[in-house]
Amino acid sequence: MKKHLRVLIVEDNPADAELLEFELLKGGYVPNALRVQTAAAMQAALDEQEWDLILSDYTMPRFSGLHALELLKTTGKDIPFILISGSAGDDIAVDAMRAGAHDFFGKGSLKLLVSAIERELREAEVRATARAQREQLHLNEKLAALGTLLAGVAHELNNPLSVIMHQATILERALRDDPRQARVNTILQAVGNCSRIVKNFLALARHEPPRRVAVAINDVVHAAIDLVAYGLTNDSIEVTLDLTEPLPSVSGDPQQLERVIINLVSNAQYALRARATPRKLILRSGVDAAGEHVLLHIEDNGGGIPPEIRSRIFDPFFTTKPTGEGTGLGLALCHGIVSTHNGTIAVSSEPDAGTTFVISLPIRSEENVTEEIVMKVTSSTPGLRILVVDDNPDVAMAFSDILSVQGHRVDIAGTSRAALHMVETGAYEIVVTDMRMPDLDGPALYRELTARDPLIKSSFLFITGDVFSTDTDRFLKETGAVFLGKPCTFDDVENAVQQVVRRRAQSAAASEGDGT
Ligand SMILES: Nc1ncnc2c1ncn2[C@@H]1O[C@H](COP(=O)(O)OP(=O)(O)OP(=O)(O)O)[C@@H](O)[C@H]1O
Ligand SMILES: [Mg+2]
Repeated sequence: MKKHLRVLIVEDNPADAELLEFELLKGGYVPNALRVQTAAAMQAALDEQEWDLILSDYTMPRFSGLHALELLKTTGKDIPFILISGSAGDDIAVDAMRAGAHDFFGKGSLKLLVSAIERELREAEVRATARAQREQLHLNEKLAALGTLLAGVAHELNNPLSVIMHQATILERALRDDPRQARVNTILQAVGNCSRIVKNFLALARHEPPRRVAVAINDVVHAAIDLVAYGLTNDSIEVTLDLTEPLPSVSGDPQQLERVIINLVSNAQYALRARATPRKLILRSGVDAAGEHVLLHIEDNGGGIPPEIRSRIFDPFFTTKPTGEGTGLGLALCHGIVSTHNGTIAVSSEPDAGTTFVISLPIRSEENVTEEIVMKVTSSTPGLRILVVDDNPDVAMAFSDILSVQGHRVDIAGTSRAALHMVETGAYEIVVTDMRMPDLDGPALYRELTARDPLIKSSFLFITGDVFSTDTDRFLKETGAVFLGKPCTFDDVENAVQQVVRRRAQSAAASEGDGT
């Protein structure tokens, strides 16, 4: 098959340029060529588009090959540059190579030009791969260091944010049909944004590799959009879901992939807010032509990303938002998560015509199927007796309020000691407990209670703010207990309660099967 080649020819003589194109054609290339003969025109051509190759004349009336080479260097672009001279001479060749040209040919002896081009294209590709790997490594190191630092702060913000979110949600529900509901919505939007930032920090601090379960991307899209739906509606954004069904699963961590979608949607939302209506957001899923990857397009008709910042948007802390509105970690995190899923994320954007991000993730293959699909729980089971154990009274109240609104009967224990006593006397179906508490912490409470009654194991729901602590992580893995990361939404709490209910039913069935 013929290979297309974008070639910039720096040459004053059109006939010589045609000759070069002819050589390329003979060599099996389809040249897509542009001829320039001044520094300004060359600069414009380099700014305008990407080039695979530059062929430059050595002497021209208003420009020269060595100047062209200098100009290329100032752009920092790595494009194979081959000099072609009418007056071939060893001294010129030496000068050219010294100046950094990749090769040198006399106009009369172009026989080996095509093989030199092939070699230079191959080498440029090797250099590009090495560069990408270096950049990725650098980015990963930066992210790890930042993550640890910021996670500490994020962790401290978790409790107050949970309280604000829960109280505001309860208020919002209580104020249906009241004009003040709009004010509460504003609070919810702001706190939702803070919570997204905090979760980004915590996700960055996670050192472990992502979970690998079968993930239905369409479900993740629905879950992510549900979480941000009221904000999108408030901003009059029309959301279109164009999801291919059935879609093959990918392998990964559904929570992390949800994080990616939420960040991309939140970026689109921000860009759309600055536009007049109609404001459009389209999420489209499908499979690539080769049938190897699941693709997710996230498209907006916002103001677009100016070309001059496009290469920097994935850098940590790169943001164009005013201080206080964003951290610039959203896309860095998206990039990190998608890479650990062996996927890619790309962007295309036209000024004033909007932006499209495309995530590509390998389709899950049979051999790496290790765990079951995680089911999303939607139905609710009201009327359970629940004990909430938390030393922070505001957090305890917030959980108690939510669970009560969801129809459960809730008691609060301010310490694990109190909880031990209350469990003795009350018949609780679920124990919701903080992980970290003074004196007896969550894991210690778990051990005490399960020593008394092993069946209570499946009744625990742990609330944790430190997903990045290895102790917490080990404990949760060992026990397989259900847990919720702070800050969490109304729906998160409901889903977690459902999970515990299922656990209890399974272990009851298992113990009946044992005849115990
Ligand atoms: N859909 C989009 N439309 C226009 N510009 C975008 C879009 N997505 C990203 N950008 C640009 O990329 C920059 C970096 O995005 P990123 O998500 O990393 O950080 P942020 O949104 O500024 O802050 P944070 O995500 O931490 O709140 C943005 O500031 C914006 O300039
Ligand atoms: Mg962002």
